[in-house]
Amino acid sequence: MSVANLGYVILEMQDPSAWAKFAKDVLGFGGARSFGEKGAKYLRMDNAPFRYMIRKGTADRFVAGGYQMPSKKAFEAQIAAFEKAKVIVMRGSDKDAAHRAVKAVASVVDPSGNLVEFYYGRDKGGDFKAGHGIKGFKTGQMGLGHMVLPAPETQKTINFYRKLMGFGVSDDLSLPAFAEGLPKQRIYFMHADNPRHHTLGLYNFPNPTGVIHLMAEMNNMDEVGHCMDRVKKAGLHIFASLGRHANDEMISFYFFAPGGIGFEVGYDGKQIKDWSKFKPTKSTVGDIWGHEYDVPVVGE
Ligand SMILES: [Fe+2]
Repeated sequence: MSVANLGYVILEMQDPSAWAKFAKDVLGFGGARSFGEKGAKYLRMDNAPFRYMIRKGTADRFVAGGYQMPSKKAFEAQIAAFEKAKVIVMRGSDKDAAHRAVKAVASVVDPSGNLVEFYYGRDKGGDFKAGHGIKGFKTGQMGLGHMVLPAPETQKTINFYRKLMGFGVSDDLSLPAFAEGLPKQRIYFMHADNPRHHTLGLYNFPNPTGVIHLMAEMNNMDEVGHCMDRVKKAGLHIFASLGRHANDEMISFYFFAPGGIGFEVGYDGKQIKDWSKFKPTKSTVGDIWGHEYDVPVVGE
């Protein structure tokens, strides 16, 4: 397994300042200096140079996640593995790398159409103090959190991450159909080379924003509760009430961030110290308790 963690996320917003304001006021992220992407807002969650880049664009959408490779050697080996499998690799320019505060970056598109970036050599950031007096976020070697991406080409996309990028399976979750007449839901959870139970999930349906949700983990339950109060005060729609997941045991809630981006804020996610002793699970329930969903159905 060579992917170390999810190091950054790129979103495109018509109003990057509004997203940055939300991230600071509601989540407790901090502003970062610009790394050169014109019109973009950069946001910090920890001592990394930045974790979120909010690009200025014509739509509100998720653009890509950037995976950290542990070394230049691993980065080049990843490119070679893709090329051997006839996956088109786009090597980023020096400017692209500078905009991400990394030594080098490359990108590919997965079989469901998600843009995937990977890099090596992140620049040093500096001390960071999160907003609202919170202790910060659970990040470090576990990366910024996790994300669940739309993957209508489910099996091909699973194979892409597992066989070409070396992700390990954590849980294969089957859920009843979201509505009558639709296929069953499936979320395939995978881990990278760090203790976080899952870094990437693949959901078998498309999503117009390009992402199902992004997750940030806090250090205690009160901080999650205070964040939930701030979400409510900001008038953002909570689409899953507080609950504890069955697979990673995370206590969390979900809401729509500006631009309709699904966001999970949680605490107490499971960490696996030794993946060689871990047995992947096949779940049929998503939650131990809670997570009552309130998702607006398109067309209603
Ligand atoms: Fe999640």
